[in-house]
Amino acid sequence: MSNGRSFYITTPIYYPSDLPHIGHGYTSVAVDTLARWHRQAGDDTWMLTGTDEHGQKMLRAAAANGVTPQEWVDKLVEESWFPLLKTLDVANDDFIRTTQPRHEERVQQFVQALFDRGYIYAGEYEALYCVGCEEFKPEAEIVDGTGAFEGLKVCAIHSKPLELLQEKNYFFKLSEFGDRLLELYRSVPDFVRPESARNEVISFVKSGLKDLSISRSAFDWGIRVPWDDSHVIYVWVDALLNYATAVGYGTDPEQFARRWPAYHVVGKDILRFHAVIWPAMLMAAGLDVPRGVFAHGWLLVGGEKMSKSKLTGIAPTEITDVFGSDAYRFYFLSAIAFGQDGSFSWEDLSARYQAELANGFGNLASRTTAMIERYFEGVVPPAAAGDERDSAIRDTVASAAAEADAAMERFRPDEAIAAIWTIVDAANGYITENEPWALAKDETQRERLGTVLYTAAEALRALAVLLSPIMPVATEKLWIALGAAESLGRLQDQPLRDAGAWGVLRPGTSVNGLAPLFPRIEQA
Ligand code: MSP
Repeated sequence: MSNGRSFYITTPIYYPSDLPHIGHGYTSVAVDTLARWHRQAGDDTWMLTGTDEHGQKMLRAAAANGVTPQEWVDKLVEESWFPLLKTLDVANDDFIRTTQPRHEERVQQFVQALFDRGYIYAGEYEALYCVGCEEFKPEAEIVDGTGAFEGLKVCAIHSKPLELLQEKNYFFKLSEFGDRLLELYRSVPDFVRPESARNEVISFVKSGLKDLSISRSAFDWGIRVPWDDSHVIYVWVDALLNYATAVGYGTDPEQFARRWPAYHVVGKDILRFHAVIWPAMLMAAGLDVPRGVFAHGWLLVGGEKMSKSKLTGIAPTEITDVFGSDAYRFYFLSAIAFGQDGSFSWEDLSARYQAELANGFGNLASRTTAMIERYFEGVVPPAAAGDERDSAIRDTVASAAAEADAAMERFRPDEAIAAIWTIVDAANGYITENEPWALAKDETQRERLGTVLYTAAEALRALAVLLSPIMPVATEKLWIALGAAESLGRLQDQPLRDAGAWGVLRPGTSVNGLAPLFPRIEQA
């Protein structure tokens, strides 16, 4: 059902030096939701995620645990990072690991191409390095340490001491790309989103780019520089290339042409790598730059960026074990404006679960299906010519569907959910106003009762389709309960961009019993 429009979207590849936390899960569910939306809309969609397995951080984590780096990443990826996708119902099309041969060989090929084109030279380097960021830090991100680190220079993000490194390195001539990058940001205004991220990138590039050290010789956990095997390729150059190697760069020209270029969704901490270094690398190689880079904000816990290293990390299963994966997806995608920071709290999560999912959407679904069972023996009644109360619902559905699609196109799942929720609120209000339980007591109102319940059921049909990329589990249950699976086919095959059409659910369809979609949570 592809309409031929290619939509290739990626998450960052995560460092499996440690266990996943809800910040990683946040990026993954956002990308998965966008991918599901486009897939269901008929776009030729490809979603990639994976793990970033080389570098000093990994080497140290393995050493601290007394195993080789390969053993360490194999264990973490198998036991924690693959399962995370299941925990969160992520339907990725591929998973790349940077230790796979399909990646390593193509990275060497790419770096050799840059060398052959004259963009790489050998030089000396001395600078402060943060192993947490795997980056030589720019002046603006170096701060004075406090407490145990008094007197030392520390990383502004990790608050850990920086290490002074002095090495012979190979350099990429990043400084030559300033003008072309500025031209890119000018000619493709939404290349970097949101606006605040775009401004930050533009002023960074305007302040002047330095050449980038792209190899390390002090350790060997990485991909060898093809012309000098005493060096390994800098882990960020290695990592960024995953987006190209995973879709056939250097091996499968057809697949590469079909998928590339990609949209990258990243946390704002790694924006510069994606919006400055990566497009410059691609320009140097003569390849297309990405379609765009969207930087989302940080999940904050107690006002600080949540992280495992600062011990504020929360495992995604702590949430899904209690509330389920749909609630996880819904909560993070609706409660935080995509692109801004957001504070996580258990109180906020519980309150939204109760108000919006259990009492809002869940209750609409259970009372509508229950009334069709009670008053029409479980068969969806036909609708008679209605009045303006009915057409108001129809209009709400049509405009919510259009607005949600437009919001997803701008990478704003939060705004898409807000638009879809106008249907939940309107339909609940419609039931309250029309009082089907009162109509049911009056035989002369039988036709009106049918119209009201058809209207509510049809609104639910639209909700199931529109919410399926966000909450695949609950919407699937609802789809089956509405009897729609039999008459209309699989939920994920319902064309998303037609979800706002009216009269799709067929009268005569049998409704099946529906257990509460969002059961009451017993607080421990
Ligand atoms: N390996 C690099 C990325 C290479 S991409 C070519 C890396 N990995 S990471 O595991 O440290 O983090 C990756 C991403 O996880 C971040 O960009 C962000 O999307 C997400 N998050 C990690 N902590 C987060 C929060 N506290 N809040 C929101 N997202 C967070 O960087």
